[in-house]
Order: sequence, then C-alpha cells, then structure tokens
Amino acid sequence: MTSQADSSPPASTDLQRLAQRFPARFTWGVATSAYQIEGGAQEDGRGDSIWDEFCRRPGAIRDGSSGATACDHYHRSGEDVDLIAGLGVPAYRFSISWPRVQPLGRGAWNDRGFAFYERLLERLASRGIAAHLTLNHWDLPQALQEEGGWARRDTVHRFVEYASEAVRRLGASAASIATHNEPWVIATLGHEAGIFAPGERSRATAVRVAHHLLLSHGLALQAVRAQGVAAPLGIVLNQAQIHPATDSPADLAKARLDDGLTIRWYMDPLLLGTYPTDVLSFLGGDAPPVQAGDLETIRQPLDFLGVNYYTRNISGTGAPLEPDHPERERTDMGWEVFPDGLRELLTRLDADYSLPPVYITENGAAYRDRLADGRVADADRTRYLKMHIAALADALDAGVDVRGYFVWSLLDNFEWADGYSKRFGIVYVDYPTQRRIPKDSALWYRDLIATWRGTVPQALRAGAAQQARP
Ligand code: FCB
Repeated sequence: MTSQADSSPPASTDLQRLAQRFPARFTWGVATSAYQIEGGAQEDGRGDSIWDEFCRRPGAIRDGSSGATACDHYHRSGEDVDLIAGLGVPAYRFSISWPRVQPLGRGAWNDRGFAFYERLLERLASRGIAAHLTLNHWDLPQALQEEGGWARRDTVHRFVEYASEAVRRLGASAASIATHNEPWVIATLGHEAGIFAPGERSRATAVRVAHHLLLSHGLALQAVRAQGVAAPLGIVLNQAQIHPATDSPADLAKARLDDGLTIRWYMDPLLLGTYPTDVLSFLGGDAPPVQAGDLETIRQPLDFLGVNYYTRNISGTGAPLEPDHPERERTDMGWEVFPDGLRELLTRLDADYSLPPVYITENGAAYRDRLADGRVADADRTRYLKMHIAALADALDAGVDVRGYFVWSLLDNFEWADGYSKRFGIVYVDYPTQRRIPKDSALWYRDLIATWRGTVPQALRAGAAQQARP
C-alpha cells in the first residue's frame, strides 16, 4: 500500500452526495476470477482447464501469454486480502477453480486445492470481508472438454457434483454463491465465435452449450438447497442494453433479435421457464436439446441475480457501425462508455420480469495506465466508476432492488484473449515484481466507501459480512 492509502478520506461534497444515495445495507465490493489471477497452474495437483489448453494454441491469445502465473495470487492471497482490507472494501467476489479442486472434473477431490480456498475464506473472515463465490468462471476441466465439454449433457451432472462438494466444503462461510459467470460468453464466444476457450465455431454447439449451462444451474441450485446452505444462491449474466443503429424497420428488427440472443435467451428460461419464441424461430434447426422437465428445472427460485455491465451495444444491418462514431467515448477495450445504459437496463429488466434482488457483480474499465513515480493517475477510470455508480443510484431511485456493486477488477489481470495487454484493475500489478500499487481510482473507491460508512447508522456498521446478506 502507498502512504496515500493510509490517509483519511477528504470530506468532498461530491463524494458525500454520491454516497448518500445508497442505503445503509448496500454491499460494496471488488471482483476477480480464478484463472485470471491465481497462477500456480501446475501446483498442488491442479488439473488443466480449457483455458490452459486454449492458451497453448498459437495465435489464440493476443500477446501469446497465459494464466500460468497471472498475478501469482495462489502464493499471495494473504497479501491480496490485506489489500482489500486496507482499502476498506467490505466484500470480495472471486471464483473457485474447478480443476484445482477436482483435477479431472470427475472422481477424486483435491484436498490441497480446497485447502487454498479454505485459507482464503478464513483470511477474509478474519478481516470482516464478505466472500461472494462463483463456481464457474469459465475454467472447465480440460478432461471434461475431451469428453465433449458443455456440449455434452453428462457435463451437467459433473457440474452438479462439483457444485455440491464445493458448497459442502466452502459454502458455510459464503455471503452468496453464484453458479455460472456469463453463460452467453461461454456459449457464444467460446463455441460460436471461437475467440474464447474452447475455441469452437458452431452455432448448433453454442445453443447446446447454453442449454446445458442453464440446466446445470437449475440442478445445482436444487442440489445445493437440499444441502441446507444458508447463503443466497444465484447466477451472473452479462447484459448490455441493445440500441438500434437507426429507426429503420430492419435495424429495429436486428436490435430485437440481438436482445433476444443475448438477454432474453437467458432471462426468459431462468425467470419465466420458456425460451423466447422469436429466437427459437430464428434458430430453426439449431434448437436447444430440451428434454421433458428441463425448463421447470432451469426456473429455480433465485435469491439474487448478478448483472455484469460494461457498455451498451448498437445493432443494425448496415456495416460498419463502429467507425462511424468517433465522438463516442470508448475504453481501451473499444467499449463505449455509456453509464445511463446501466439505469436503462435495470429499469427495463425490472419492468419485464419479476426480479430477485440484483447485484452488479462486475463493472469497470480498461485504460492504458502508466506507473510514474509510484503512482497511477487513472482519472478516466475514476470518472467511469463515478458515472456508473451514479447511474446505479438512478436505478435505485427508480425502484430497482439493487443490493450491491462490485468493481471489476481488484487487480490488473489476465484478460482472456487479450492477455495482459488490457488493465482493468483499480490496483496496478507490476508483473515482473508482482508489486501491487493502488491506482488513484482505488483510493477514490476507498474514499467513497468510507464516506458512505460515515452516513450509515452505528447500529448497522458492525459486521460487514452480515450486512452483505440480502
Ligand atoms: C467479463 C468477465 C471478466 C472480465 C471482464 C472484463 O466478461 O466476466 O472475467 O474479463 O469481462
């Protein structure tokens, strides 16, 4: 930590105004995922995941890197928890690496793998930080991929077994448990676009994969509930409002279809127990392999819905869409900065579905950060966070039941196909030395939380972990 991180927060009226817009029982957090930060890929009996395998493919990762070392969090988790505590952040969302705790995705459990997460949970608890667990943040055991992966129905049962054991061993100290992170990304980017692991290119496969992910979510929720776990259970979806490029009927139709393929394809089965009929007719012969009872299974009561929001998307039939608008502000990912999309998305979901409590499980931005004189002056990231948190307050004002917000990400990390070329952290990672340097945005977030705490009645202040429960 820098000395700046230890100074007391300035009583800025801007911060006060923003902080006051959030209720006393709000969860403020930071997020990471296993493959992106842990490293230790060959250690203590961990098996390969599909991302280890994908990274070996020439050309798959922009800078030829992999998550083999990443942020070396496997060896630095104590220091990283201290970092979260030092910033005064009361909640941490992270994922369990399935191949670390069950190397082949079936059969033997790896006690040394579980021990890592047990230590992490103990450390978090000792610092009063609430632990929000995700069971699948994309790192399927490679051994299961070789048997057909998520395209194979049997993988659903393997996941349920893994989920049950992970929750039996680790669930008691969790503040929430999510089954999957962003099934759309796994299905579409992994199996149709082929730009993420496992790198397949077939729409029919992607549709099967999405169905099996949803089904495994439903079955896992049933199994875990039967175990009597106290933590709220849910799923995390990536969602971006889709806007038509123009008001032409063709663009409006394209925007509606894209909305169906990305948002309604997941929300409808999870919350209504049906697949959207317009998307079914678009898919034609590539229909999902629905068996009797599947849709009822998928629609399990959700204790919460996790929403990852980064940008809006523009849909249309004319090309190219993006270069036409140089005036639109973008992050280093090329994603448009569009904070009001968060409010619009949440109020729209609230109107269309009977929503459970919502957590923004990811929001953040990549920028070309520079470390100079021990400091990272990332004013653009702070601005991004500020605007999105204000948009979230607008959604709260509009009556949406939002319970928490997690910044993606605590640390710069392995950004999938972009390798280490994109930095999303509010803490800078100097990879050669693995030094962590809180960026200005981390200090701003610390100050926001401290200011918010100052507005919270004393009686509600004790026990961040308790407060984090919906
Ligand atoms: C999300 C992923 C997360 C991270 C951010 C930038 O889609 O869930 O792991 O890569 O994007």
